Amino acid sequence: MKGIILAGGNGTRLQPLSLVRSKQLAPVYDKPMIYYPLSMLMLAGISDVLIISRPAELPLFHKLFGDGGRLGMSIVYAGQDEPRGIADAFLVGADHIQGEDNALILGDNLFHGANLPSLLRRSAARLNGCVLFGHQVADPEQFGVAEVDEDGKLVAIEEKPAEPRSNLAIPGLYFFDGGVVDVAKRLAPSPRGELEITDVLRAYMDEGRADLMWLGRGVTWLDTGTHESLLEAGLFVRDVQRRQGTRIGCVEEIAMHMGFISPDDCYRLGTEMAASPYGRYLMDCARFYKRLPASARATEDW
Ligand code: TTP
Repeated sequence: MKGIILAGGNGTRLQPLSLVRSKQLAPVYDKPMIYYPLSMLMLAGISDVLIISRPAELPLFHKLFGDGGRLGMSIVYAGQDEPRGIADAFLVGADHIQGEDNALILGDNLFHGANLPSLLRRSAARLNGCVLFGHQVADPEQFGVAEVDEDGKLVAIEEKPAEPRSNLAIPGLYFFDGGVVDVAKRLAPSPRGELEITDVLRAYMDEGRADLMWLGRGVTWLDTGTHESLLEAGLFVRDVQRRQGTRIGCVEEIAMHMGFISPDDCYRLGTEMAASPYGRYLMDCARFYKRLPASARATEDW
């Protein structure tokens, strides 16, 4: 399965923070924002990822991840010169998708919670068209909203409805079959001038091929598009990490758990940042992981 991180956009709500540097490179506590969506794709078992950003900032993303080899992955890059909408990711990314199943995640979405890895892998495995997620929120009018019938089946999708018919917001993470590129090619821009992801989802829904999975209360979903939500996300990450002694969105650790790199590789990556608690954490993780018996290394509910 292929992965795409959509990390362009103008980040107007975060100005002036986003004026000269992409918001997806801004810190969410101890790491760049893009680590969090990348870690989600990795937990879904995806090691072949395209990062889409504003062309001027592609070199910065490349500086961060290179060709992905250090994480045992392939990471490639493409520019989106104008924010033409989320569904534009499938047009910019058509050569990367090459007709294969794929997952798209927005570069400013952060998820954390119990059983996420197994949920992601189940979603990828049951893909028959598209899988989208529903997450209960207090302010659904700010989001794409899913309406479900009494059996929990998806019946309607609305973009930022003034009077939402449910409180199930649709987070920025989706799985699609390779046909999504053709669906995107047929889209017309919405009144706000964008290729809308909700139109893509609706096209699959109309064919009965859109599967809604609920992200229960055990999962926290944060987006980081405003000054307030960016700060809150940073504090959330700090609090969870401090309490649990683990790290959220730690791509090197996840690469080791997923078997993309060896514990020795992870240790070496840690030594390169040994002056920081993050680097030392990687070294500790690698040492601990090496001592685990193979049977205890199963990643299912890690
Ligand atoms: P938005 O939050 O809709 O847009 P933005 O990030 O540019 O912020 P603002 O509204 O403050 O101007 O985008 C959600 C995510 O999708 C974010 O990571 C940017 C990305 N995105 C693109 O990369 N290209 C696009 O064309 C759009 C619409 C979004």
